[in-house]
Amino acid sequence: MQKRLYILSNRLPLTIEKEGAAYTYRQSSGGLISAVGAYLNKEGKEDFAEKYWVGVPGCTEKVWNSVPDKENGDYKYVPVFVNNKTYDYYYNGFSNSLIWPLFHYFPSYADYRQSYFDAYLEVNRTFAEQMASVLKEDDIVWIHDYHLLPLAGLLRNKFPNLTIGFFLHIPFPSFELFRVIPKRWQREILSGMLGADLIGFHTADYSRHFLNCVEKIFDIQHDGDFILRDNRKIKVSALPIGIDYEMFNNAYNDIEVIKKRAEYLRLKQDKKLIFSVDRLDYTKGIYNRLKGYDQFLKQNPEYVGKVVFALVVVPSRDTIGKYAEKKKDIDEYIGDLNSRYGDIGSQPILYQYGHLSFDELVGLYTACDLALITPLRDGMNLVSKEFIATRKDKHGVLVLSEMAGAAHELNNALLINPNDYYEIADKIKYGLEMKPEEQERRIMAMQKQVEENDVNSWAKQFFYQMKEVKDIQGRLH
Ligand code: UDP
Ligand code: G6P
Repeated sequence: MQKRLYILSNRLPLTIEKEGAAYTYRQSSGGLISAVGAYLNKEGKEDFAEKYWVGVPGCTEKVWNSVPDKENGDYKYVPVFVNNKTYDYYYNGFSNSLIWPLFHYFPSYADYRQSYFDAYLEVNRTFAEQMASVLKEDDIVWIHDYHLLPLAGLLRNKFPNLTIGFFLHIPFPSFELFRVIPKRWQREILSGMLGADLIGFHTADYSRHFLNCVEKIFDIQHDGDFILRDNRKIKVSALPIGIDYEMFNNAYNDIEVIKKRAEYLRLKQDKKLIFSVDRLDYTKGIYNRLKGYDQFLKQNPEYVGKVVFALVVVPSRDTIGKYAEKKKDIDEYIGDLNSRYGDIGSQPILYQYGHLSFDELVGLYTACDLALITPLRDGMNLVSKEFIATRKDKHGVLVLSEMAGAAHELNNALLINPNDYYEIADKIKYGLEMKPEEQERRIMAMQKQVEENDVNSWAKQFFYQMKEVKDIQGRLH
């Protein structure tokens, strides 16, 4: 018999926006939504009797109810409403001013406030209480990401036998970083995560870090990938997330994408086109990327006027000080670069601060000569995989930071250290001059990897391992 699936994440896949007097919605940004949404909309359709996505809608109940036609045929939205101040402390505060910077190795950006932690627990409890009124023991619950680290534990207290999976979409840091969190918070976070039956990470390093923290903080030894806690087996697994390969690959021939591509190719004329897109985030290394590009133009003056960089930055978390500061730095640097290397007729950087539609995104992926992706730290980085998947023409070069989780799989990219501007500059040059045969060889190897490990196999592997843990637990009792 098919079961009911509950996906739980901070953000719902739709973001409601005000347009004049009315409210409309668009798909929310970020890798979690792209990946989980793609699975639910496609292969996941058949796997469960009913599917629900539970999250905070970012608007009042009144506004939520006033937006028409927001139901998604494949799953139902379950909004969790939280008051503004609590949400602010939980989301801007504990989640994005403590866990996010710390887990991405920016400890100096972390802000340790008890009020943030209290709000963080309160929102997690609100999720747990709301779920308690609808869940049955044979449902499957899949919790996503760092906003909801304590939630599995809170649900476990209410439902001892429930199947609970947890997946972390960001890095899990080494013990040396994790230990700087106040001890009582460390314990709440880890206990919460250990409420799950299966705990998934993008890479083996993140899994190892987690196991190491559990061992050091709770003095619990692990047996390979398994932990025994309160007489319950828990599995910790490295499951690198993928993308909807088929959708991105087929998009190359979509009529609207073809139109967009033609538009961008006209715009670049006979110049080389470099492209990047990320949310505005200090972890994405946008400023370093500009430094590398600056260095490239400095070292290779013959390229001035012959190359253009389409830099798209998607607005994100802009009410948080560190994000607003980064935006200012990036804006100023772009102005500076354009004034130094450009003139009225030609600019080295075309900058967009805003969202892209799917057609624009794939249009840019497929029109560019080189994708320049330079995060200082990134759990996975789906943009790099999407770029590879779209290149049905087998052309284009990927320059990728070795600090992205994706670098483990995309080892046919030109890998760079994002702090080394000279290396970025050299790889840009090498990439722009790479022979078509080498481009093809690298792209094909990476396409094979991305296709074989797409989002559907990721999700199916996750569910398979959850069942495996449940079977093991069943045999123990
Ligand atoms: N994306 C988006 N809106 C845009 C441009 C891109 O939602 O305007 C998507 C992009 O296609 C990708 C995701 O955002 O699926 C970014 O995922 P990634 O893992 O690269 O980074 P994250 O934003 O999750 O840190
Ligand atoms: C990353 C996180 C997601 C988050 C996304 C967008 O991908 O792992 O949990 O949804 O960024 O960030 P936002 O703060 O806008 O939800």
